[in-house]
Amino acid sequence: MSKLNQLPHITLILLLLYSSSLPLLVSSAKCHKDDKKALLKLKAGFGNPIDLPWTSDVACCAWYGVICNSITGRVLNIDISSVNLSGTISPAIGDLPMLSEIHIQYAPLLTGSIPYSITKLPLTKLTIRFTALSGPIPAFLGELKDLTDIDLSGNRLTGPIPEPVASLPKLDRLTLFGNKLTGTIPPSLFRGQTRGDLLYLSDNLLTGEIPRSVGDADVAYIYLAGNRFTGDASFLFEGQKNTFEIDLSRNRFEMNMSSLSFTHSLNKLDLSNNRIYGSIPESVATLEGLNTFNVSFNRLCGRIPIGGNMNLFDRYCYTHNKCLCGSPLPSCSA
Ligand SMILES: *[C@@H]1O[C@H](CO)[C@@H](O)[C@H](O)[C@H]1NC(C)=O
Ligand SMILES: *[C@@H]1O[C@H](CO)[C@@H](O)[C@H](O)[C@H]1NC(C)=O
Ligand SMILES: *[C@@H]1O[C@H](CO)[C@@H](O)[C@H](O)[C@H]1NC(C)=O
Repeated sequence: MSKLNQLPHITLILLLLYSSSLPLLVSSAKCHKDDKKALLKLKAGFGNPIDLPWTSDVACCAWYGVICNSITGRVLNIDISSVNLSGTISPAIGDLPMLSEIHIQYAPLLTGSIPYSITKLPLTKLTIRFTALSGPIPAFLGELKDLTDIDLSGNRLTGPIPEPVASLPKLDRLTLFGNKLTGTIPPSLFRGQTRGDLLYLSDNLLTGEIPRSVGDADVAYIYLAGNRFTGDASFLFEGQKNTFEIDLSRNRFEMNMSSLSFTHSLNKLDLSNNRIYGSIPESVATLEGLNTFNVSFNRLCGRIPIGGNMNLFDRYCYTHNKCLCGSPLPSCSA
């Protein structure tokens, strides 16, 4: 045989070897059998929705919304969005020992509560938003010491923000807007953080004063609108802050705006619908990135600063105050 004729044989043998071993390698690497079992229980708990195609003919690491470690085949993340889940989150979710992120969203028929079994997981991020999850936020989330990001927005949660959750040591994003939460923000929230990223508690029934720890954590985005918060939150503006957006609107904050100092990073400041008095500091006009500014429905007085970005804001940003004057409101009488 000539060398030319031998070549195809070798290729063929190699190909055969390769193709026979490949499926074995792939299937063993692609899906750990215990994880598959847990996922199928989870799916059953969700009422086996037809738009969640988790079926045995495909390795579970290739299923929609499932991300695995490609070497071990263990499930790392679950990310399910806009699937018609009903039923509840099965406790079997606790049987995915490497699961570090849960993201379940836009499932309006998903009911029940968060199962205790998730305390077994090495969770860093927990998102369950826009579902019909109800009852209190479980205090046992405070056992998940690696959690950095909790998002339980747009559910039907009631009761307070549990202290063990607020004092999670690595938590820097807490998103709970659009529930029916009551009580006050625990004074331990973000304590020990040098930099909080997001505090989003808008549209709940929360009361009391904002704890100092939130100011100390220098949170980048603060949204507290539409609650019943009270007191003087001016400490949120004190010192060298790096806040980008702050929305305190539709609350009962009482503070003297004259003495607020604003960080140059500020893009959005909404203080509308509170009990804020004093006058608008000139420094507002020096904020180069400011694109939202609203102080309407308060008790402010005095001349509206001019210059900078102030021409972006119309009279509806100043309406219903005690005695504000100057453009875009009628001019101040001498
Ligand atoms: C979603 O699932 C529920 C329960 O299985 C079912 O009754 C409903 O018709 C489904 N909705 C859609 C839009 O498929
Ligand atoms: C608000 O603060 C300013 C400046 O610090 C001060 O002059 C003013 O009297 C204060 N207003 C009230 C009502 O306390
Ligand atoms: C300012 O706030 C008031 C009251 O919350 C609201 O009605 C108005 O639309 C807001 N204006 C802008 C420009 O956001």
